[in-house]
Amino acid sequence: MKALILSGGKGTRLRPITHTEAKQLIPVANKPILFYGIEAIKEAGITEVGIVVGDTHQEIKKAVGKGEKWGINITYIHQEAPLGLAHAVKISEDFLKKEPFVMYLGDNIIKQGIKSLIKEFRENTSDSRILLAHVNNPRQFGVAELEGDKVSKLVEKPQNPKSDLALVGVYMFRRHIFEAVNNIKPSWRNELEITDAIQYLIDKDYQVNYHIINGWWKDTGKKEDLLEANRIMLENLKKRIKGKVDKDSKIYGRVDIDERVEVINSVIRGPAIIAKGSRIINSYVGPFTSIYYNTLLEEAEVEHSIIMEECKIIKIKRIEDSLIGRNVIIEKSNFKPKAYRFMLGDSSQVGTI
Ligand code: DAU
Repeated sequence: MKALILSGGKGTRLRPITHTEAKQLIPVANKPILFYGIEAIKEAGITEVGIVVGDTHQEIKKAVGKGEKWGINITYIHQEAPLGLAHAVKISEDFLKKEPFVMYLGDNIIKQGIKSLIKEFRENTSDSRILLAHVNNPRQFGVAELEGDKVSKLVEKPQNPKSDLALVGVYMFRRHIFEAVNNIKPSWRNELEITDAIQYLIDKDYQVNYHIINGWWKDTGKKEDLLEANRIMLENLKKRIKGKVDKDSKIYGRVDIDERVEVINSVIRGPAIIAKGSRIINSYVGPFTSIYYNTLLEEAEVEHSIIMEECKIIKIKRIEDSLIGRNVIIEKSNFKPKAYRFMLGDSSQVGTI
């Protein structure tokens, strides 16, 4: 069995962060989202993995490499434009060679992993197996309608959802999916939809079964989703202190302080994680905060936030519920008149006191 990870597309809902960066590489608990998918696939015993990439291919290749880190083989498949999830399957036919495969959307995180689900699929003969989850906002997903133990209908982002069962971004297929992706037409948003391809299988009486997942799952499309994913992943954190913590600092609870981190006269309340090369000086880091590498916090307070690499946050009290991209500087200035002074990218959001 092979795996196909989709890591192309556009991260419009996460702009401005995704003006410059692939949304699948945003760190959650200091690990790129995409790595959670790769780990889940590896844990399920799959080692031949194709990754569909688009405009952000260089970054993805740099972060993931050939897969040695995980002991898997990665083949990159270039998609000229984000023409849909079914289009991604279509262009991957040479790689998949009609073998059974799992398709994993690179912006999804499934806490329980996919090992047992893959095992069940390998052991039965269904043509496709989809995962579903009850959600509060079905309009934002592909939605399934069920009839007994069968899936009767799938609709992509319906105006009037007939159920609250969303399609989770993990799908298992056998070779008939290629017949489907080659026979469907682009949708109103000009994409070849995987929901339409699965509907084709249903209409042609191929066997599509489903599994409703009860564990935590997230499609990390928006800031709130990322902060929730960060919270959930930090719940599993174990205490680990590798860097230097001076005697004037206090560390409470499950805190992960990586090598080459310096904590000086600061308070860190877990769960919180701080990556290599970051410095926390006269500051407070509160629960559910992830600070990526080479970031400086000086006389600052941060809680329930993701701060990415190479940031400088100086004399700021206090930041909460925030997602801060790479190389951002937030600093209290002494210039007169006293005022907020910004240099913000397109689609930035600032909430002031
Ligand atoms: O997350 C679950 C949902 O994912 C499902 O409920 C929907 O049925 C399914 O269509 C999909 O919806 P999204 O609108 O959230 O998909 P998105 O455009 O965010 O793309 C998902 C991933 O696939 C993302 O990592 C980008 C990648 N992608 C997307 C497209 C459209 C590609 O690699 N190529 C593409 O052409």
